[in-house]
Amino acid sequence: MRLADCHNVEDFRQLAKQRLPYPVFHYIDGAADDEITRRRNTAAFDDCDLIPNVLAGASKIDMGVTLMGRRMEMPLFLSPTALQRLFHWQGERAVARAAEKFGTFFGISSLATVSIEEIAALTSGPKMFQLYVHKDQGLNASLIERCKAAKFDALTLTVDTIVGGNRERCLRTGFTSPPRLTPSSAVSFAAHPGWTLNYLLREKFELPNLSGHVAEGSKTALSVADYFNTMLDQTLDWTAAERIARDWGGHFCLKGIMSVDDARRAADIGATAIMVSNHGGRQLDGSRAPFDQLAAIVDAVGDRLDVICDGGVRRGTHVLKALSVGAKACSGGRLYLYALAAGGQAGVERALTRLRDEIERDMRLMGVANVAGLTRANLAWR
Ligand code: FNR
Ligand code: LAC
Repeated sequence: MRLADCHNVEDFRQLAKQRLPYPVFHYIDGAADDEITRRRNTAAFDDCDLIPNVLAGASKIDMGVTLMGRRMEMPLFLSPTALQRLFHWQGERAVARAAEKFGTFFGISSLATVSIEEIAALTSGPKMFQLYVHKDQGLNASLIERCKAAKFDALTLTVDTIVGGNRERCLRTGFTSPPRLTPSSAVSFAAHPGWTLNYLLREKFELPNLSGHVAEGSKTALSVADYFNTMLDQTLDWTAAERIARDWGGHFCLKGIMSVDDARRAADIGATAIMVSNHGGRQLDGSRAPFDQLAAIVDAVGDRLDVICDGGVRRGTHVLKALSVGAKACSGGRLYLYALAAGGQAGVERALTRLRDEIERDMRLMGVANVAGLTRANLAWR
């Protein structure tokens, strides 16, 4: 299988599976417990159908939206994800460049493998920094200051990782950051010399946004669950979130909001956006899917902040359905991570091309010229 054979997210997933040592692939692909939530996140979109209006005469399609003060050329963006240089040696640099070309937001994680400053120098496109609040308060303050200095457009505070999810695939493979050779995984690393040589010979693996504060995850190998459990501040609450919003002073997004009450509270503390998200099913299995919960949240706070539907998106039609319900935009992780693993920047660009083309084609088929034309009247629930 080659990149040219990849036409949809599942194709990129298959190629990623070929290219990556299995602990790395299953880290991306896997989720918590029985992975019911991961599956539901995508399946939820099948519970309603699109109803097109024909003969609309729309020759020009404008799929642009404004999110947290920045115009995006497409209503889908790349959620912040950790450790990208493990998936392809180009890592976050590839994702930043691809997002800029497509005029859409991307995010770097606190656990990114490229620095805040380098990303800022690399792209003038819309970008968010995703904050994990650490026990080390000095680190939290320094991350916020660095993002201000680097002129990031938004700060995104993830609120669904107060402890690590039970990712049993990672328990089985022994995945850690940085990767550690175990007797069984050594075979897989040896069987993927392309990946392994890049990992060993290119720039050394590190988490540059944490270095100076934290050795765990870069110099000391740790599972992601252990990282969350030992390094993050489990006392994080609404007062702390409000303080962070104030310290930051710019567009502020809470990622991992699922309840209507929390969505209201997010607006109350000054958030300008929320990502309705269960972390791609990687944290609380059995949590409701973002798309299932979207209408209730849009009805409660859609006029107070930007509501983003994060997770499960695999098709342009999924984006159209979420926008019809009232989301401002959609976002996703695996939809570009498989492509990154499959082919670096070229892979991410190919994935974004396919998804953008799907959205455009589907808008034509729906008979709408811009996203404002997508309303609940376009949907019927089964
Ligand atoms: C993530 N996600 C994530 N979220 C976050 O706030 N900080 C992070 O560092 C990461 N890291 C991360 C790594 C990997 C490999 C994945 C797959 C996901 C969650 C991510 O931002 C997003 O919420 C989910 O990926 C959405 O689900 P889909 O689109 O993957 O189905
Ligand atoms: C994950 C992180 C790091 O989901 O958020 O693996």
